[in-house]
Amino acid sequence: MSEFKKPKTIAILTSGGDAPGMNAAIRAVARCAFSYGMEVYGINKGYRGLLDGEFIKLTSRDVSEIIQKGGTVFQTARCKEFETPEGIKRGAEMIKLFGVDVLVVIGGDGSFKGARELSNVGVPVIGIPGTIDNDIGCSDYTLGYDTAMNTAMEAIDKIRDTATSHRRCNIIEVMGREAGYIALNVGVACGAEAVLIPEEDVQFDDVVRQIIDAKNRGKKHFIVVVAEGVGRCDELAKLIEDKTNIQTRATILGYMQRGGSPSLRDRVMASRMGYHAVELINEGVGNRVVVTQLGSVTDIDINEALEMKKGIDKRTVDMARRLSR
Ligand code: F6P
Repeated sequence: MSEFKKPKTIAILTSGGDAPGMNAAIRAVARCAFSYGMEVYGINKGYRGLLDGEFIKLTSRDVSEIIQKGGTVFQTARCKEFETPEGIKRGAEMIKLFGVDVLVVIGGDGSFKGARELSNVGVPVIGIPGTIDNDIGCSDYTLGYDTAMNTAMEAIDKIRDTATSHRRCNIIEVMGREAGYIALNVGVACGAEAVLIPEEDVQFDDVVRQIIDAKNRGKKHFIVVVAEGVGRCDELAKLIEDKTNIQTRATILGYMQRGGSPSLRDRVMASRMGYHAVELINEGVGNRVVVTQLGSVTDIDINEALEMKKGIDKRTVDMARRLSR
C-alpha cells in the first residue's frame, strides 16, 4: 500500500479487452473526483496512449451520457512496448510530465500487472476490474460479466428456437479466454444439455451420452455451451454429429459478447467501484485493487491481488448437470 498527500490530479485509462460498464466506471471515477475538487485526465488507448502522451483534461460534461454506452470512450489497446522496463520508465515519466498524482486503471489481470510495474517505480495506482471473462482471482465480480452473459443468453435462446424446429444439436462457443465462468452460468440460464469448460476434464463420451439420453427422453433440441478455452467448436460439432446421428451446427458468438449497453448490474457495480476507488485516493491510499467480495465493495493490495486465484464453483457444475436431464 502506498500513502501520499491529498492528490490534486488523477488520470484514468482503460486497458485490455473492452467491457460493458467501463464507461460507467470512468464516469463514476471522474464525477467523484470532481466532487472532491480534483482535476481529471482521461488517457486515450490504454498504455499505448500513456506512452504517447494522449492525455485529455476532462470536465464533468465530458462524462455525460456515457453511463449507458458499451465499449470505452477512451478506447483501449494491448501494448507490448509497455511490458518492457523502458516502457514502464516512459509511462512513469509521462505521469510526472502531466502532474498526475494517481493513475486509475480499468481492465483485467494483464492491465493490473502493468499498473503494478508502475507502482514499483513510484506511481500510485488503483485498479478497477473490467473484463467480461470474470477471471480475476481477487474479485468475485468484474465489470462487463453480467452484460456479456445476458447477451450470450439472449443469442442462445434464439438459436434454441431454430434448434427445436429442426430437432438439431447446436454447439455454441462463448468467450472467456481460459476461464469457463461465462459458459457455466449461461449454460445454466439456457438449460443447456451439456456445458464444457476448461476447468473440468472434458469427457467427450459423456457429452455424446447426454445428448442421446436427452433424445430418448423426448427432447427436441440439444444445446451444448462450450467455453472458448476448451477448443474448436466446429470440430466438436462434427464429432457429435458422427456419433449421435443428429444434425449438428456450430456457432461462435464472438465479439458480440463484448459490446452493447451495460446491464443495470454492470452500471451499478461500475458506479460503486468507481466511487470506492476515489474514496481511497482521497484518503491518500494507493496501490490497491477495488474488488467485490460476498457482495461488498472493498480493496486489496495490488501485489496480493495479482497472486489470488479463483476456482470454479463445483456445486454450480453439478447443478448444471442435474438440471439438464
Ligand atoms: O478478455 C476478454 C476477451 O474477449 C476474451 O474473452 C477473449 O479470449 C479475448 O478477449 C479476445 O481478445 P482480442 O480482443 O485480443 O481478440
